[in-house]
Order: sequence, then structure tokens, then C-alpha cells
Amino acid sequence: MFRLLSVASALPKCRKTNDDLSGFLDTSDEWISQRTGIRERAVCTDESLTELLTTAGKEALARAGITAQQLDLILCATIKGDYITPSQACIIQKELGAKCPAMDIGAACTGFLYALDVAAGYFVRKKVQKVLVLAGDVMSKLVDWKDRSTCVLFGDAAGAAVLGEGDALKSISLSAKGNIDFLNIPHVNGNSPFDSIPEQESFLAMNGQEVYRFAVSSICHDVKEVCKQASISISELDWLVPHQANLRIIESAAAKLKIPMEHCLTGIEILGNTSAASIPVVLDKAQSESKLKTGELLALSAFGAGLTTGACVLTW
Ligand code: UT7
Repeated sequence: MFRLLSVASALPKCRKTNDDLSGFLDTSDEWISQRTGIRERAVCTDESLTELLTTAGKEALARAGITAQQLDLILCATIKGDYITPSQACIIQKELGAKCPAMDIGAACTGFLYALDVAAGYFVRKKVQKVLVLAGDVMSKLVDWKDRSTCVLFGDAAGAAVLGEGDALKSISLSAKGNIDFLNIPHVNGNSPFDSIPEQESFLAMNGQEVYRFAVSSICHDVKEVCKQASISISELDWLVPHQANLRIIESAAAKLKIPMEHCLTGIEILGNTSAASIPVVLDKAQSESKLKTGELLALSAFGAGLTTGACVLTW
């Protein structure tokens, strides 16, 4: 089916610490770091999502040693592209000078896993040989900076992976449990003179405790499921690569799965929750720290608005 030929990421240049946020918000470094593990995050100032994704995509192509013209498909996982239409994937196709089909995947923080599964289908049908999977969100433009219970949690980032033919993907499983109440961002309003639906602000709203419970149980369930499908035991995994939403979620799920924290990749401390980008960004961070070795077994696991979840086992 496929293997990962490369992974890359891009972050905005501006970094904000918890103390920076407590300068204008009723919060503290102590609360944020103890409840979430987050110490700082990167936020866009003059960068667009397009710029971040283009940087990550170009780097992923260079690391894979291929040109944009060799791509057969571009998938982009994002909550909100720079335009409602065209898709973010089409915008990046133009930026890279690629010629292949391109489309967005809307599965919030699980988008990278959903995109891998879509790509797997194209490989099985032998429609593609090289696929660029992009994932990115500018969460700083989607949260209410007056709401301390959500804005401190997120950061901005983009990730990219080039997939080529191979047999690295051992198993993959997706789920969706339609639910608007726990985590949503309402759409922007138009100006139709015929519209009678009351206007609402377009900010992220979340029931943190419900999402927390859902997150821990879904990581545990999904990792067990994909290990079973891959006919391996959890103890054979070299790395758990969880979505980075809260260090306590990661620690709790890892403890229930009996995976030592030394075998969990994390980046939330310096990145916050970067939504769809979180898994490829943390993979790139780990490879830059020379943590990952060829042939190691990874379980990726994500959850997010939808509510969606996804997990897979693959070799590095
Ligand atoms: O990828 C998307 C997925 N999102 C998630 O996975 C988020 C999952 N949920 C969580 O990570 C946690 O539920 C949070 C970090 C969001 C919240 O942690 P918590 O331990 O569940 O706190 P809480 O919501 O129960 O709030 C506890 C207290 C409240 O004050 P009172 O009512 O006890 O007086 C909040 O008002 O903490 C207060 N609080 C804050 N205080 C200082 C909430 N946010 C802040 C803040 N600074 N930023």
C-alpha cells in the first residue's frame, strides 16, 4: 500500500509563553502548565495557512527527493482553509506547481489520520504512486481571545508527509460520533436579506471535561483496535504518537495502555494543540531529535471535533 517517504513541518515565527498570555488574560503559567503541560505556542502574525503549508510541503518534497510534478494526489486536512473555496489543497497545488487532483479533508484534529486512510484507498486502487498529505490549522484565528478556557490551549502549525508505494501501513481505523455540543466552531455569517437565523460569533466553543473523557477512552480503544488488526501486542510498539491536546490526556491514556511515557512522542509543551498538524509536527520534531529509527513500530492516535477519532499502526 504505502510508506512514509518524508515528514516535514512549519511553524510561525512568533512564540508566546504562558506569561505572555497572563499579561492580558485572567490566567497564569501555573494553571496552564499544570492542567495541560503547555508552556508556549507559536502563533501567526503575518503568516497565512497557505504560507505554512507551502513551506512544509516544499520541505517534505525535498526530503522525499521528488518534484511537485511527480505527485499524483494532494490531500489537505484542515478545519478552515484560507478560502471557503477553492480548497486549501488546490491553493497549495498551485503554490507548489503540481498538476494532480487536490482536495481537503474535514475531520478536525483527526484530519491527518483521515487523510492517510483516504490515501490508502488510492494506493490500493493503484491510482497513485506519490501522495502529498498536508495538515494545518491557524487556531489562533478560530479561538476567542477573551475566553481563557480555550484560547490558551491552541497553537498554529502545518505538517506535511510524502507517501510512496510500500507496506508500512499495518492497520488503520477511523470513527465518527456526530456531536455538535462538545466541540464546535459556528460558520461565518453572510449578509442575505432573507436570512432569519440569528447571527452567532464564529469562535471555538468546547466542553473541556467531556472532550477530555472522550479523548482518553478513544485513544485507549483505538490503539488496542489497530494493534489487534495489525496482530501485534501493545508492548511491541516503539512509539505512541498521540494527538497533542493535553499532556494529562496523553499520560492518562499511556498509563491505561501500559506504555511508558519514554515511548510517547510529545510536543505540546512548546506547541500547544495544533489541531490537524499535531501528529506530523510531532513526528518531524522527533526525527529532528534523531529519536525515530527505520523499521520502528508507531501507533498514531487522534481525536477531535466531530467527534472523530482515528488510529493506525505503521513502520517508520
Ligand atoms: O483537540 C481538541 C480537543 N480538546 C481537548 O482535548 C481538550 C480536553 N480538555 C482539557 O484538556 C481540559 O478539560 C481543559 C484543559 C480544557 C480544562 O481543564 P480542567 O481541569 O477540566 O478544568 P475545568 O474546565 O474544570 O476548570 C477548572 C477551573 C475553573 O474555575 P472554577 O469554576 O473551578 O472556579 C475554570 O474557570 O479553572 C478555571 N480556568 C482557568 N483558570 C485559569 C479555566 N481556564 C483557565 C485558565 N486559567 N486558562
